[in-house]
Amino acid sequence: MAACPAVATLTTMTQRVLTGITTTGTLHLGNYVGAIRPAIAASRESGVESFYFMADYHALIKCDDPARVARSRLEITATWIAAGLDPERTFIYRQSDIPEIPELTWLLTCVTAKGQMNRAHAYKASVDANLAAGEDADAGISMGLFSYPILMAADILMFNAQRVPVGKDQVQHIEMARDLAQRFNHLFCTPGEELFVLPEAEVEAEMELLPGLDGRKMSKSYDNSIPLFQGGAKALKEAIARIVTDSRLPGEPKEPEGQALVTIFDAFATPEQRAAFRAELRAGLAWGEAKQRLFDQIEGQIGPMRAKYEALMANPAELEAILQRGAVKARAIAGPLLARAREAVGLRSFAAPLEQGVSARKDKAAVPLFKQYREADGKFYFKLNAADGGPLLQSEAFESGRDAGQWVARLKTEGAAALAGAPVRKLAEEAVIAEALAALASA
Ligand code: TRP
Repeated sequence: MAACPAVATLTTMTQRVLTGITTTGTLHLGNYVGAIRPAIAASRESGVESFYFMADYHALIKCDDPARVARSRLEITATWIAAGLDPERTFIYRQSDIPEIPELTWLLTCVTAKGQMNRAHAYKASVDANLAAGEDADAGISMGLFSYPILMAADILMFNAQRVPVGKDQVQHIEMARDLAQRFNHLFCTPGEELFVLPEAEVEAEMELLPGLDGRKMSKSYDNSIPLFQGGAKALKEAIARIVTDSRLPGEPKEPEGQALVTIFDAFATPEQRAAFRAELRAGLAWGEAKQRLFDQIEGQIGPMRAKYEALMANPAELEAILQRGAVKARAIAGPLLARAREAVGLRSFAAPLEQGVSARKDKAAVPLFKQYREADGKFYFKLNAADGGPLLQSEAFESGRDAGQWVARLKTEGAAALAGAPVRKLAEEAVIAEALAALASA
């Protein structure tokens, strides 16, 4: 069986780091400190191949405003390039430019347990909010939202990334991607020739750190953020002026620890600058002065990037060309991997011998199987077949599918003990049937 040519050789040489940004808004200073800056630093490590993409299919799940999606993906691309991401050294692309991703999403969807998706935090949170509001549990929930983790798994598995830097809220999604990789490998690949690498989440401690104007985590939803480039130096200055401090007067000693202003300063300062700033505050530096220092500190680093950002935003054709090249590079990897995945599940050329890559499902997932069905008489039935397909049990007719299902459930959980009263014909030795039921119960 040659269902899944191994990719291990390709992936052990370099580590692949991949992350996506949902393109629904504009970026703030917290995004820069928590995600963009560390990602760009990581992309400069040697032995690393980095993949950064605009998750614009994900954006469609959260946002039905086309103008906003269009603008956001442009702005976010410009931001990454302006902040120093090198498109020659890295893979930067739009998710929607890689048709292999939605295709892989479907292959993965077909091996995803619906029950697992029911347990996804984002979906559950929406359901809980609906229930709390006295609405139908699934009110306003699209299949896009429900399947969100599968699309995200495809993003990651498409490039066999080992490391996925994300915020804490995304860790469950990476675990789901791992599960799906494992499941696909198990169902369709020979052991030792697995198609998909199991990815791991990397949670940046820093990602949680940057406080907003009010001291809570900087976040769009709290309306406490400092814009990264939007509005220029003026907007930066105005936002800084709104950072909440205590009411100590100029000349009064101030306790720097725990002040949002100081924590934000730290994110842009060397250890020496941090110590000097604290000493000045303790010596009575006015909050107004402190805010000026903070502005100068940030502007010194962000200002040159903003100039580049503005130049890029004025020339979208250049960004388009960068992303088109990025898509070509990314598809050179995605195409061959998708071809193997299609091959593995049986979507093959008719010119290839049919018996090649016999379904792994058959020989590996060999367990006894209950089947429920409805006959032309309108009645409901079930039967139990052995792992090799041989018949073990045949039920009598049930008026409702529910009754048939209840007997199946009992036989599965109680095993041979439930056989005595069950409306079934035995088609094999009782011991053989009992063994099959025991195998099912332990599976
Ligand atoms: N869901 C992620 C977020 O909202 C964005 C994302 C989409 C992503 N696909 C990804 C992140 C793949 C990492 C890997 O933050």
